[in-house]
Parts: sequence; C-alpha cells; structure tokens
Amino acid sequence: MSKKEMITNALLNLFSLEDKVIVVTGGAGAIGGEIAKCYARLGAKVVVADFNEQMMAEIEEEISGEGGECLTVRLELPDEDSIRAAVDTVLEKYGRIDVLANVAGINKRMLMLDGAEETYDRIMGVNLKGTFLISLYVAKKMIALNETLPEEQKVRLSIINVASYNSVMMLGGVAVYGMSKSGVHALTRSQAIEWAKYGFRSNALTPGHIKTKFTTQLWNDPSLSGYLLERIAMNRPGYPEDMLGVAVLLASDASSYMSGQLCIVDGGCLAGGQPWDI
Ligand SMILES: NC(=O)c1ccc[n+]([C@@H]2O[C@H](COP(=O)([O-])OP(=O)(O)OC[C@H]3O[C@@H](n4cnc5c(N)ncnc54)[C@H](O)[C@@H]3O)[C@@H](O)[C@H]2O)c1
Repeated sequence: MSKKEMITNALLNLFSLEDKVIVVTGGAGAIGGEIAKCYARLGAKVVVADFNEQMMAEIEEEISGEGGECLTVRLELPDEDSIRAAVDTVLEKYGRIDVLANVAGINKRMLMLDGAEETYDRIMGVNLKGTFLISLYVAKKMIALNETLPEEQKVRLSIINVASYNSVMMLGGVAVYGMSKSGVHALTRSQAIEWAKYGFRSNALTPGHIKTKFTTQLWNDPSLSGYLLERIAMNRPGYPEDMLGVAVLLASDASSYMSGQLCIVDGGCLAGGQPWDI
C-alpha cells in the first residue's frame, strides 16, 4: 500500500460520511450551503431543507454537477405540518436519517426597547422552537425505526445544532437572537443527556463572527469591523469554509464519544480577543 493510500484509508475510517443520510436545514444559506456541499463531496446523501427554493435549486445543481447526491425538500420552520412533510419525504426516499444538521436561523438587529412581540416570536420560532420540533420528530422516527433493526444497522443519530457566539456572550441589539441561541445550547445538552440511551448524540457547532454575503455590509463598516476585529484573536472574520472541519467531525464517527458540547469556531474570540500591546 502506498503512503497516500494508507493516509486515505485512515482518514476514511475516521471521518467517512459515505452513504450517511444527512439533513441540513438552512442548507440553502451561506453556512448551510457550504456544509451541504462539503458533506456531499465526502459521499453523504445530502438533503437540503429550506424555504428558499431558488437557492436550494442552485445548491442542488452545484452538488449534482460535482457528482454528489442531493435531495431538496421545502421546510418552513417551525410549522409542524411542514416539518412532518419534509422529514417524511426524506424517510420515503432513504428510510433513515443519520445526521440532522440544524443550520437554519434568522436574526434581526434591534434594541429591546424598540422590539415587539412579533419579532420575538419570529426569531424564537425559527431558531429555537424550529430546532426543537424537527429534532423531536426525527428522534422519534429513528427510535421507532431502531426497534425494527438489528444492532449493527441501528441509526446512531448525530444532531448538530448551530449555536452562536451569542449563545455565550451578548452584543447590543441582538437580545432575542442571543436568547434563542442560548436556548439552542441548553437544548443541545438536554438532547445529549436524554437521548444518549438511544445511541444518539447532540453537539452545537458554534460560529463566531462570520463574513457572508449578508454580513458584508457590517464588515465593510470600518467602525463595526474594527470593533469586531479587536475582539477576534486571529484578527480576521471567519468564513463559512472555516466551519467545515468541525461540521465533518460532528457528523462522522470520529466524534463518537462527544455529546452535549458547544464546539466553538471563532478565531479565539471567546478566548479573549486581541491581547493588549505591551
Ligand atoms: N453568519 C454569522 O456570522 C453567524 C454567526 C453565528 C451563528 N450563525 C448561525 O449560522 C446559521 C446559518 O447562518 P448564515 O449566516 O448561513 O445565514 P443565512 O441567512 O445565509 O442562512 C440561513 C438559511 O436558513 C433558511 N431559513 C431561514 N428561516 C427559515 C425557516 N423559517 N424555515 C426554513 N429555513 C429557513 C434561509 O432561507 C437560509 O437559507 C444560523 O443559524 C445563524 O444564526 C451565523
């Protein structure tokens, strides 16, 4: 065996996603789209679940163009009928779900004094209730499925909830978002402890400050980007591609003994940011 083959085999044994059925909610977005494409490149059967049908079609085309496998399903969180329909469509096609990556999320920057109940309900609804309900439905389905399967074929569901810097630290203007993402952290730990007995794991992929086409404006503002960069030890924004290593780790069996963790990918932001110049 050549050295290259040896390395390839070792990597595949540890991190293989081959034939895993992976649902990525928010898979039409900046971070979810990169994660979905990466999973497909590593051999997974990827399901992009989102309400942005045009972007879903673009991601599907990219994945199929590269020879990967991708199914798109319309999902409108936190609507229960939509969740059931989307998950049932996946199960009709593939029969199982090995990984549920809850990436869908929304934010609206506004001060609490300017906020309204409607904003609260919308953000909490998508980010927390939506993540809670789809996880619950998938977990129930996989528990029932496992009762019919022999040990070696049982689904060992890995749930990856996308949390945020704001699960831990707050910034002005994102109170409800921070509350929802703190809730996602709590939900992740609860899923880890209540569902371990079914062989399921749950971890939170926790991005810091990520530059995407939707946050470019913020990063182009010298005072805002200066404020952020001062707080990031690595002195640069994160990019969706920076999330891929941990996304693969959590989806693969390489993380078989990890559960309930906040996996922070933030360039050293929560560690304390830039040091004083001494
Ligand atoms: N961008 C950042 O700096 C950053 C930092 C920390 C955490 N996050 C989190 O990462 C995740 C992805 O963020 P992003 O920057 O890629 O945002 P994005 O807006 O590019 O992607 C979000 C995706 O979720 C989908 N979505 C929104 N509401 C939905 C609903 N009700 N039902 C179904 N799909 C819905 C959107 O259509 C979109 O495709 C979010 O959970 C976000 O909170 C982002």
